[in-house]
Amino acid sequence: MNARDEVARVRTAPRLRGDLRLPGDKSISHRALMLAALADGECRIEGAGDGADVRSTARIIAALGVLVERVETNGRTINYRIESPGADGLSEPDQVLDCGNSGTSLRLLSGLLAGLPMTTILDGDASLRRRPVARIIGPLRSMGAVLHARRNDSLPPLTVVGHTPLRAVDIETPVPSAQVKSAILLAGLRADGRTTVRESVATRDHTERMLRARGVAVERGESADGRVAWTVQGGVAVRAVDEQVPGDVSAAAFWLVAGAIHPDAELTLHDVGVNPTRRAVIDILRAMGAQIDEQPRGDTGDDGVGEPRADLIVRSSELRAVDLGPTDVAAAIDEIPILCLAACAARGTTVIRGAGELRHKESDRVSGIATGLRALGGRIEIDGDDLHIEGGAVLRGAPTDSLDDHRLAMAFGIAGLLASGETTIARPGSAAVSYPGFFDDLERVRA
Ligand code: S3P
Repeated sequence: MNARDEVARVRTAPRLRGDLRLPGDKSISHRALMLAALADGECRIEGAGDGADVRSTARIIAALGVLVERVETNGRTINYRIESPGADGLSEPDQVLDCGNSGTSLRLLSGLLAGLPMTTILDGDASLRRRPVARIIGPLRSMGAVLHARRNDSLPPLTVVGHTPLRAVDIETPVPSAQVKSAILLAGLRADGRTTVRESVATRDHTERMLRARGVAVERGESADGRVAWTVQGGVAVRAVDEQVPGDVSAAAFWLVAGAIHPDAELTLHDVGVNPTRRAVIDILRAMGAQIDEQPRGDTGDDGVGEPRADLIVRSSELRAVDLGPTDVAAAIDEIPILCLAACAARGTTVIRGAGELRHKESDRVSGIATGLRALGGRIEIDGDDLHIEGGAVLRGAPTDSLDDHRLAMAFGIAGLLASGETTIARPGSAAVSYPGFFDDLERVRA
């Protein structure tokens, strides 16, 4: 099997053993590059993810006039040296900015560019051109930037006519989305006062932590009903600060599920980011009965600035079904597809309610995961935005299709380790969007 082939072939694994280092966290890598572009001076980013998405962000900040040097790589992560003239020294690029497959590049960069006095056009691949941008346009327009997009301002390409200073606002995100929240906070850096973003469900807080680490005051408030409000002071310079990126917990999730549902498995995952707003997949799997040992390493992140990390060891477990609601879906948004595989192996029926946002990812992940797992013998019903997954499925190898979606490619790859016979995955190369060595690791853990 070769990930560059049109079709990946994965056979049942009798045992799973191994020590894995994950790619650098994708969310943190994007943000480290963008904040380095806003800061005047030099900084280093160690252990960044080297998937296609993060590379898109690196190329785009280079097009804005930032020196981006890829320093060294260990084959799965990359170190960068960045030298920027700072936000006021960035220049208008003479080309369309290509975000490739990366929704995070598109949404976060819109916020960053909204506060710069230049006109830019953000575009991407066929999948990105189907992803909603109205959620970004509304808030950024209210701050004084001019944005336009295709199909009545709903789909990319997206044109951003930036403005300095922007108007400080107090705004609630239209959907629970760390991308939208982060875009508003990045725009807020260039606003004429204090900008507050409120979210109905708490989403990943990397932007907030990383801004604090770079000298920007970011305050957190919480109302009695659990809503979180983040406030950033505009006009404060972002300091150039080095970043050490932890392993990506969303990539670790594939191995956590593989280890938990395989009857003879023990996998060690080194240096994984376990930020409280990202670790839901670990806690959900534990609630399902997964044996996951967690050995904290270094930074605890308790100060709301750093990123906590840990080594995780997962062993074969007997899983039981779980009930997940919209808050769980928001907290484990990228891990829901692989959790569907865990649910197929668990005892009882798992219900996932309010999974509608998954339809707006790199593919429609609600129908994509259901179609692939059903082909393998999974029993999944879709009821509006809810999924009902019957456990105890006996998986048999069959053809599946990633739909050019990295998380589906990897979920079906893991399913192939469990299913009898041979599973094929069409368009497996999409895994490289976040995890270039995924199919190599899949071979390595086959003890
Ligand atoms: C991300 C936020 C999530 C997630 C994406 C990365 C981020 O998207 O799905 O993979 O880095 O902020 P939404 O904020 O749109 O849910």
